[in-house]
Amino acid sequence: MNTVWTDGVLRFSYMDSTEVELVATMLAKPSVCAHVFFGPNTIEETRAFFLPLVEPMQESLQRDERPQCHVFTVREAATGDFVGECAVIPVMFGSGNFTIGYQLDEPFWRRGYGTRACEFVVWFGFTVLKAHRLSGDTLGSNAGSCRIMERCGFRREGVQRQYYFARGELHDNVLYGLLREESRPALARLSSAIVEIEGEPSVPT
Ligand SMILES: CC(C)(COP(=O)(O)OP(=O)(O)OC[C@H]1O[C@@H](n2cnc3c(N)ncnc32)[C@H](O)[C@@H]1OP(=O)(O)O)[C@@H](O)C(=O)NCCC(=O)NCCS
Repeated sequence: MNTVWTDGVLRFSYMDSTEVELVATMLAKPSVCAHVFFGPNTIEETRAFFLPLVEPMQESLQRDERPQCHVFTVREAATGDFVGECAVIPVMFGSGNFTIGYQLDEPFWRRGYGTRACEFVVWFGFTVLKAHRLSGDTLGSNAGSCRIMERCGFRREGVQRQYYFARGELHDNVLYGLLREESRPALARLSSAIVEIEGEPSVPT
């Protein structure tokens, strides 16, 4: 089973438990967490969230089985530098419906990498996981994330007012959705842009 992909600029690989430390350092930064519903996290808080996702994922991959949750380390293809993480997680009771997410470290913002990470999870969700729908959400104040999902074809489906309390303030949560049939033009382009680096090829639909 394939575990590593690239779009030519970024490299996406299933996260190893050792890489959770890199995520923890990133999510301890107030700047990175300024427009998300959590954080800044302690190192322990990030470990406690990510390790129960990453360890079963690695066990499934070792058995050559597709994991339930898909958490990817994002690195620059040219340098190997850690850029952040992105994920595709099944929605509870929502067969074929997955939540997508991405967090990038501050030195890598505003280079189009957030858009590339979102494109990767869109491609992965529809092509590899055969999703019928991808769901995303973000704080209303997260202009970059709203723009990224809209660039990737997601439709704004609603606002949950005062949904989160974080850093002493209430925050609205904006809901986004992308249906399989709406993603076809983007997928046609992404399927030639994203290639597997190692392992068996997955077959696009
Ligand atoms: C939000 C985040 C993913 C944006 O990533 P990025 O790599 O800077 O985004 P891109 O370079 O692909 O930019 C995409 C678009 O968003 C815009 N944008 C990015 N950051 C922005 C910001 N802080 N404010 C307003 N617009 C922003 C860009 O100008 C670009 O717009 P364009 O399409 O009109 O040119 C990144 O800042 C990040 O990971 N932040 C911390 C964690 C986080 O917020 N994760 C998302 C949780 S929902």
